[in-house]
Amino acid sequence: KKYENMVGYLLDWYDKGVRILPWRENPKPYYVWISEIMLQQTRVEAVKPFFDRFIKALPEVRDLAEVEEDKLLKLWEGLGYYNRAKNLKKAAIMIMEEYNGTLPASYEHLLELPGIGSYTAGAIASIAYQIPVPAVDGNVLRVTKRITNSYDDITKQKVKSELENELKDIMPGDRPGDFNQSLMELGATVCLPNGKPLCDKCPVYSICEAREQGSYMQIPVKPAK
Ligand code: ADE
Repeated sequence: KKYENMVGYLLDWYDKGVRILPWRENPKPYYVWISEIMLQQTRVEAVKPFFDRFIKALPEVRDLAEVEEDKLLKLWEGLGYYNRAKNLKKAAIMIMEEYNGTLPASYEHLLELPGIGSYTAGAIASIAYQIPVPAVDGNVLRVTKRITNSYDDITKQKVKSELENELKDIMPGDRPGDFNQSLMELGATVCLPNGKPLCDKCPVYSICEAREQGSYMQIPVKPAK
């Protein structure tokens, strides 16, 4: 109920302004997986050239499973967090052995792969396979906590799991991937973390309680460890 109307506003906004990205034009599960891993610590614009080069060099899961470590690390140079690349290869080997080279169309099975947590499993399941599961990252936490004017501590696992449950209930069954991406995209381009969010450009302006209360700079609550 807290999120009444949100889904429609977000999907309309997404339809009007969606950025054309290589993994959106062709949401092959392999492409979605690679792009989501790259996007975990790197912005969309910066990821694009790395993604294109990676897919040219390793067009299929099999190529990734068989790539030499040197070559893999070279492809990852500039992205940092090299464990992500090493986990990609480990997961690719498992996907070859257990799933015949195709990423499993199951949130639970995706979660079992190295380097894939609840966010990435949700992103792949919803964007590549239209499975209605949420994909909650920092952007999604910020956007939703502001909409509901919630001072929940977003570093708490419980807060994240509760949000995942709430989003599951309002997920549009026909467009789960677009819905998840609209939330991420709103966080990345409008409901910004630092400085003033661009509320006058926001599709959920009329229902956002933090905007109404003027509390958007205090939310999300994220105590230093
Ligand atoms: N950040 C992480 N994944 C994303 C996606 N699919 N679209 C937009 N921003 C993202």
